[in-house]
This record gives sequence, structure tokens and C-alpha cells, in this order.
Amino acid sequence: MQAYWMPFTSNRHFKSAPRMLVSADGMYYRDDLDRQILDGCAGLWCVNAGHNRQPIVEAIQKQAATLDYAPPFQIGHPKAFEAAEQLAAMAPAGLSKVFFVNSGSEAADTALKMAIAYHRVRGDAARVKLVGRERGYHGVNFGGISVGGIAGNRKLFPVSLPAVDHIKSTHDLARNAFSRGEPEFGAELADELEARITTLHDPSTIAAVIVEPMAGSTGVLIPPKGYLKRLREICDKYGILLIFDEVITGFGRLGADWAANRFDVLPDIITCAKGLTNGVVPMGALLIKPEIHDAFMAAAADRAIEFPHGYTYSAHPLACAAAIATLDVYRQEGLFGRAATLAPRFEDKVHALRGERHIKDIRNLGLVAGIELESRPGAPGARGMDVFLKCWEKGVLVRFTGDIIACSPPLIISEQEIDTLFSVIGEAIHETE
Ligand SMILES: Cc1ncc(COP(=O)(O)O)c(C=O)c1O
Repeated sequence: MQAYWMPFTSNRHFKSAPRMLVSADGMYYRDDLDRQILDGCAGLWCVNAGHNRQPIVEAIQKQAATLDYAPPFQIGHPKAFEAAEQLAAMAPAGLSKVFFVNSGSEAADTALKMAIAYHRVRGDAARVKLVGRERGYHGVNFGGISVGGIAGNRKLFPVSLPAVDHIKSTHDLARNAFSRGEPEFGAELADELEARITTLHDPSTIAAVIVEPMAGSTGVLIPPKGYLKRLREICDKYGILLIFDEVITGFGRLGADWAANRFDVLPDIITCAKGLTNGVVPMGALLIKPEIHDAFMAAAADRAIEFPHGYTYSAHPLACAAAIATLDVYRQEGLFGRAATLAPRFEDKVHALRGERHIKDIRNLGLVAGIELESRPGAPGARGMDVFLKCWEKGVLVRFTGDIIACSPPLIISEQEIDTLFSVIGEAIHETE
């Protein structure tokens, strides 16, 4: 317990009463006491095909024994090209170029850099500003926390990219509490983008707007009907790139392959990670409109590096093997369609918790749900953590963000397991002061 400084963890509390996972299969983890734990959040929103999937495990094993590592700069390996082809084939129509990274955070920072550089290579070097959204989460690197809007993730690091602004969050309990699916009210919140950029900024200085189509880590904020379409229209009007951070929403989470398709809004760049490899090997990616890629190719001199950016582990052979196998499992098993089929039951079961004490909102879409609890006076987050701990004791893994409980199970979950998931959460809330 001494050496390991755990990420995003209350280390002292954890080390006084550790929770340890030692194995996983299908929908379940096992802990060090040999208890079975139902995975109510796909690990960390990433194990969409469930745990210990043999095609993925075997693909990694084989790859490790064939080509363990290849330098990604100026050299290729076949699996990188195959993984990109497979991912492009699964991407929303119109996003046909793929740039690999190793995480959602790297994907966000890469997309921000790509957006600024894109305008520059086209001779529009004034476009350097970035717009994010309050309560947005785009990982933990400096670009991501600059455009992100979760106060707790920023306040210890009060150093931001210089040219950043934020629009308001869409969270509106007064009008939208207990919405099933997309809330009715709030499309007009997108208009704030136009108001801010035209009054405070010259719109011709804005490079990109980045949002999560559904804000996950902040506590499952579903976009109001029409909101994302409005953002797209405003970006189009002013020549601004629209980036969707689909690190959570990609790969079936919302009952469709991508949020972009679910909401019928095509961004210029999608960032993804997590479900790309079923969480098995770290990997992220950008899905990019070909015009953006082509602008870089056209601007650079012969033999020049067109986009001076990348990581030692970009397109790592093990990650590529895992991605190819994962996408194949998604296709073969029709898991995105399965999520859509299960979504009505998932919705009914989570909304059946309405009326349980402390609950002030329930929201859902596809196979994701957020249950917002009243905070204990003077102790925000304490009740959420207690519910999380009680669920753990009862053999169910959920996420909590402050006093919001989030569920996002693997897409292989059964109807019975959905029932168990929400009945345990209901009991845990009931028993929590
Ligand atoms: C929308 C979004 N973007 C970025 C990230 C960061 O991903 P990672 O933790 O892989 O860096 C996350 C992680 O939860 C996320 O939900």
C-alpha cells in the first residue's frame, strides 16, 4: 500500500479499507475476497463487450509474440493500417481519416492542436481560440482541462491555455428533471455560443468548439432535443470546427454506434478511446473529415512532416490487434443494436427508482443512466460515495461523481442483470442516510 499513489482516488480512505479486483469474466469482476461483483459501469465506461473476451485476448497474445513494438514515426506495421481501415469503416460517414493516440486525454489534446493547426495550414492563422463547455470533461492534460469545465479538476491547476472560453452546461433540473431520454428544454442554450463569440470575440478567431455530445463524467447530462444541431449550425455559419468527444458515447453506449449518428449531427472531428479496444489495451483515436487531413498534406513541402505530433505508443501493435478484434466482436455480436434493444427496459428500471429518498433526478439514454441525489448539508459528495460503497458491499460496481450515481454496464448485460443492478442501487440509496 505504500508506493502506489492512486489516480483520482481518496488514497488515505482507500488504504484504510481497500477494494481490490483480481479477475473478471463477462459481466462480473471477482475481488480479493472471492466475491462476485456485477460490473455496472463497464469498468470505467470502456468494457463494452464484457470482460475476458477470448477473440480479444487471443489477438493480443498472438500480436505480442509476433511484433511486440514498432516505432510509429516514419515506419509502419500492417496492424496499424488494418485497425485504421476497420475503424474508418465503422465511423460516421464522412469521417474517413484516423489518427491514433493512447487515451481519451491524448485524443482531446491532439484534436485541439489539430484544429488550430488546420486553420493555420490553410492560411487562417488568426483562428487560435477554443471553446468548451461548463461541466465538460476532456481528460486531464492541459488542453483538456482548459476546455473542460469540471471545477474540481481545474482548481489545483489554475493554469490554462490562454485563448479559451466556455459556454453554459445544458443541465437544467428546473425544467428537465426526470426526463426519459433527451430532455425537451434547452436547445436555445446553444445560442449562447453565437452570442459569446460575436459579442466577446471576433468569430474569425475561434478555431474549434469541443463538447461531449452527452456529458458523461460530470454525471450523465443528456443533450436537450435540437441542441447539438444548433451548435453545428452556428459552427458552420462562422467557419468553426466542431469536435465531438465521444470517448464515452462511441461504440454503442447510447444505443447507436456513435452519438453523432444517434443525434444525426456530423462533427468535423470525433475523439474516441475506451470502447475502441474494449478497455483491454490503452488506445484512443481521432476520426477526421478528409478535408482536414488533405489541407495538411497540401500545405507541407515534399518530405516534410505534415503534422508534427504523435506518441511513442501511437498505433501500438498490441492496441491495434485489440482494436481490430474488438470491432469484430461488436460487429459479429451486433452489440450496438443490442444496447438499443435493452434500452427501454434499462430506462424503465432506472426510472422505477423515482420516489426513493434523496433522489432529485434520474436521466438516461441508451445504456447509460445518472441518478442525482440531494447532497448532505455541508458535505457535497459524501452521500454519493456512501451509495457507491454500499453498492460495492452488495456486489455491484457503479460510478459516482459528487452525489450523482452513474451506470453504464457492458452492452452484453442481460435483462435480469439490469433488474439486479437497479434493485441493488435502490436498496443502497434506501439504506444511505
Ligand atoms: C469524454 C471524455 N473525454 C476524455 C476522457 C479521458 O480519457 P482518458 O482517461 O483515457 O485519458 C474521458 C474519460 O473518462 C471522457 O469521458
